[in-house]
Amino acid sequence: DWTMGDYKETAIRQIREKVGDGKVLLALSGGVDSSVAAALVAEAVGSQLTCVFVDHGLMRLNEGDEVEEAFKKWDINFVRANAEELFLSKLSGVSEPERKRKIIGEEFIRVFEAEAKKIGQVDYLVQGTIYPDVIESGTGDAAVIKSHHNVGGLPDYVDFKEIIEPLRMLFKDEVRQLGRELGLPEYLVMRQPFPGPGLAIRVIGEVTKDKLDTLRLADFIFRDEIAKAHLEGTMNQYFAVLTNMRSVGVMGDGRTYDYTLALRSVTTTDFMTADWTRIPYEVLDRISVRIVNEVPHINRIVYDITSKPPATIEWE
Ligand code: XMP
Repeated sequence: DWTMGDYKETAIRQIREKVGDGKVLLALSGGVDSSVAAALVAEAVGSQLTCVFVDHGLMRLNEGDEVEEAFKKWDINFVRANAEELFLSKLSGVSEPERKRKIIGEEFIRVFEAEAKKIGQVDYLVQGTIYPDVIESGTGDAAVIKSHHNVGGLPDYVDFKEIIEPLRMLFKDEVRQLGRELGLPEYLVMRQPFPGPGLAIRVIGEVTKDKLDTLRLADFIFRDEIAKAHLEGTMNQYFAVLTNMRSVGVMGDGRTYDYTLALRSVTTTDFMTADWTRIPYEVLDRISVRIVNEVPHINRIVYDITSKPPATIEWE
């Protein structure tokens, strides 16, 4: 009977037959789908594959390094474009959410395109499209929301012969299983959804390096405590938001005037509607105590108890 191991072998053979000695390009985001697609093609054609990973500096703590590390085991052309400064300068002074998205989407394409040009003629472009994407790209709300959220859209900015979509028959759980078969680490295979614009839409208002660093550390502590409490299975997306609000606090014998951090966690099946997660009070307490003790410039923590609708999952 059918196993994911068989699927893997068949897919590898088919990719080899199709690609021949051609050159293959893939935009790696570090998300589950693009990572598994990359690993599969890496296994199939090795050094004929170039993965371009645009590091916009808006990722979570250590995320860029983790992605790079996971692909060390394959002999592929792994390009990490370190573009943090570029993105920060483009975002400087910008506080409106949709403008942030637009700027990040445009710069992402520009950086990717510049890297793609360096490798010359590309024969195949790999995309991590999975079965639910194929269904949703019909009509209706899901398609509209999806296209709104997909940074970049179709890559008409790189010349290639054909698109390869090796995951288009698979559901999410199967994609994760395939990732495991290919030897990707659990933190990539089980990664929660992360928006293309990254932490830029979780720093409310203007984005600065300092605010991103503050948010990164707080968000890491939140996720760390959730992992220690073994609660990941009860939530589908959970993260911290650095609000743009400051309030008065007290520390030692002085007053502080620092930022309020919001914690957000949702339980959902389709991300179109979502319920806020009932995280146990003791866990919320540990998270709160750790963050105010360990993260400078945060003196107040709130937990978001709104469902979607009427709220959205992200704050921007
Ligand atoms: P909302 O906030 O609309 O989020 O309830 C629903 C899901 O979409 C993700 N999201 C995005 N993903 N680019 C993305 O790639 C975006 O601009 C974007 N905005 C929201 C969000 O993280 C959640 O999973």
